[in-house]
Amino acid sequence: MWEANLYRQKHGFVFDYGKDLISMLNPKAGERILDFGCGTGELTAEIAQSGAELVGIDASSEMIKAAQEQFEGINFIEARGESFIDSKQYDAIFSNATLHWILNPEAAISAMYSNLKPGGRLLLEMGGKGNVATIIETLQDVLEEHGYVQQSKTVNWYFPKLGTYSYFLEKNGFKVTFAHLYDRPTKLNDPNTGIIDWLTMFAGKYFTGIPAEDVSSIHKIVQDRVKERLYKDGHFYADYKRLRICAIK
Ligand code: BEZ
Repeated sequence: MWEANLYRQKHGFVFDYGKDLISMLNPKAGERILDFGCGTGELTAEIAQSGAELVGIDASSEMIKAAQEQFEGINFIEARGESFIDSKQYDAIFSNATLHWILNPEAAISAMYSNLKPGGRLLLEMGGKGNVATIIETLQDVLEEHGYVQQSKTVNWYFPKLGTYSYFLEKNGFKVTFAHLYDRPTKLNDPNTGIIDWLTMFAGKYFTGIPAEDVSSIHKIVQDRVKERLYKDGHFYADYKRLRICAIK
């Protein structure tokens, strides 16, 4: 279960960075646009300022509830992206920091294809190959050292290569017009607990069945161990690698 308040307060960079993607989307009044993985709705609301009609979907009921409470007049729906098929198609689909949560990429791509009008555009950004590798590899090492071998093998995300995701899009009928994999070191809010907060918010699945006191000490050891590589000028930076793609149906 995602904690919407923690997400907004300490991980607002997720939607701050997404703003840049909106200019590539270039939304227009009268268009019908789907925000695929809308979270707490900040970007959905920003896109809606163009005069486009927005629908936001997210698999988390917490996030959808928070979005509905804050942004009236936008249709927010709790739904899993890979199985959401609307009765009316869209001019464009926008997706920021969501598709790496869907472990069956072709199911998501197929759903997005069905939901777009012919000629409709897809604008997506997600974690790409090597995303948060320093944090995750360190976490896996520390889990193993503590005897949590099973947990260290957790598969939580899908971070594809540029060519792999482009291939899946093309295989499912899209024309890929732009693709870019780039480093985006991401400053974490709290100078003292940045990595611990990130693990608390996003990496809970790795800690299934682990007692709370071990969870806290593993969080702390991981943060200490990555400090040499991920701490700069008084802040921790998560080693994000983004995959940004534009495609047309
Ligand atoms: C990402 O946006 O790349 C991301 C966010 C949370 C967990 C893993 C990756």
